[in-house]
Amino acid sequence: MRVLHLIGIGAGDRDQVTVQAVKAMNTVDVFFVIDKGNPKQGLVDVRTEILAEHVTREHRVVEIEDPPRDRTPADYGNAVDDWHARRAARISDAIAAEPEDAVGAILVWGDPSLYDSTIRVIERILALGRVGFDYDVIPGVTSVSALAAQHRIVLNRVGEAVHVTTGRNLRDHGLPEGVDAAVVMLDSDCSFTALPEWDIWWGANLGTADAREVAGRVADVVDEIERVRAEVKSRAGWVMDTYLVRRSRLS
Ligand SMILES: C[S@@+](CC[C@H](N)C(=O)[O-])C[C@H]1O[C@@H](n2cnc3c(N)ncnc32)[C@H](O)[C@@H]1O
Repeated sequence: MRVLHLIGIGAGDRDQVTVQAVKAMNTVDVFFVIDKGNPKQGLVDVRTEILAEHVTREHRVVEIEDPPRDRTPADYGNAVDDWHARRAARISDAIAAEPEDAVGAILVWGDPSLYDSTIRVIERILALGRVGFDYDVIPGVTSVSALAAQHRIVLNRVGEAVHVTTGRNLRDHGLPEGVDAAVVMLDSDCSFTALPEWDIWWGANLGTADAREVAGRVADVVDEIERVRAEVKSRAGWVMDTYLVRRSRLS
């Protein structure tokens, strides 16, 4: 393979694919799609729709089945590392099967720089040395940008900082001392319940037909968020939510 483009495609809205991404997609011979199995088929469908809408050039799609992952490991770091190694081996095999002069691409949900392992996996593949190619990264609209736009909010108060973290970190460690605003991703446990007096701006499946948003004081909206989250999941078959929590000026 000559070159591989890692293309950020936004968080679900086909109109949030950048012009740069569309131009790159129209140079591609083969798109590698990581198939995460049936529950997340909706995500693969979004990618398929993006290709149908934006790519006029003849191309192939190669689906790569994601290796199974232990979701409740004793050692989280080692489990992720092992999963990345198995994912790298599968993608490396798929790349090795392509002609030397082919142009490839992996479509990355949101932006490749934010809670995404594609860049790390590609670096791992190159380090293995079985296949050689150049790669570049084309940025995409993150789910965090989509959340802020949907709620028409600025993430930070004037001149202040915003912390970005995961639901697991919030649940297990709370927020670091001095943090008054945090964007939380990858939270399947509604860990914001630990901050009842804070304000929350929450959004699920943003950019898709099933998108929902809720905002308010956590204690006031927690039941609504849990109900809406379950509704979105049952309608779409998957749910991904992101939220901003900020210490209330009143607390
Ligand atoms: C593996 S991370 C990928 C983040 C992605 N690279 C980005 O730039 O947004 C998955 C997390 O992103 C967030 N997310 C992705 N798509 C979303 C969407 N359409 N609506 C709300 N949150 C989303 C959720 O927090 C989800 O758990």
